Amino acid sequence: MTVLVTGGGGFLGSHLVDTLIAQDHRVICLDNFSTGTRQNIHHHEGNSHFRLIEADVCKTPPLEETLDQIYHLACPASPKYYQRFPLETALTAALGTKEMLELAKTRSIPILIGSTSEVYGDPLEHPQKETYWGNVNPFGPRSCYDEGKRFGETLGYIYKTQYNVDVRVARIFNTYGPRMREGDGRVMSTFFSQAKRNEPLTVFGDGTQTRSFCYVDDMVRGLILLIPHSGLPE
Ligand SMILES: NC(=O)c1ccc[n+]([C@@H]2O[C@H](COP(=O)([O-])OP(=O)(O)OC[C@H]3O[C@@H](n4cnc5c(N)ncnc54)[C@H](O)[C@@H]3O)[C@@H](O)[C@H]2O)c1
Repeated sequence: MTVLVTGGGGFLGSHLVDTLIAQDHRVICLDNFSTGTRQNIHHHEGNSHFRLIEADVCKTPPLEETLDQIYHLACPASPKYYQRFPLETALTAALGTKEMLELAKTRSIPILIGSTSEVYGDPLEHPQKETYWGNVNPFGPRSCYDEGKRFGETLGYIYKTQYNVDVRVARIFNTYGPRMREGDGRVMSTFFSQAKRNEPLTVFGDGTQTRSFCYVDDMVRGLILLIPHSGLPE
């Protein structure tokens, strides 16, 4: 199969690329390296099963290849970066997702949209069930990401119901593992950086809060298992 991975130069995307290549698929990685790095994928350079397109997902250049699947992961993901680039983040989540849904529609292929637990905002329910609609502030420092991702999901719903595109959405919770960016402000990166420096771990509040963590290999496995299943409600 030939698989397009947007955001393939990022933390999660690069592990997905590794796994797909190991499974003998051809991978087209599309990334603008705004938050990802070439280093994450440089070991695939020269591999005939790998092609890199350095581009903004909002303005994807025409793709000549036959495509079989799209994993759409391109988007700044840590508060440090999305708060530094709020407009780019909101537009990537909206226009980039529309661009990829159009591609999936034109080619009649399945698409997986990488969403986030942040669609629940500041949740009033713990743990969050998929039936929970969230508690999100549209007018604040996290809105570019939270609302952007919610809008991306809405586009997925529209393309599924109006155009019969084979869409699935993965609401990803905290994922950790190699290639996490140190100092990106996310809790696991902070813990690992502090541990490496032999410093105490910083726990905010009274320490009774709970989080859901997933190792990156398990996340990649889950995404690959999800793509044959379109699970959006009608
Ligand atoms: N890592 C997590 O814990 C986590 C949690 C929830 C959701 N997610 C989602 O998973 C996806 C990947 O997250 P990550 O942790 O690997 O982040 P990351 O920042 O490491 O990867 C995102 C990649 O997308 C690229 N990108 C950003 N904007 C782009 C654009 N306009 N055009 C092309 N490429 C662009 C970046 O350069 C980067 O390589 C994101 O969509 C994120 O919202 C991740």
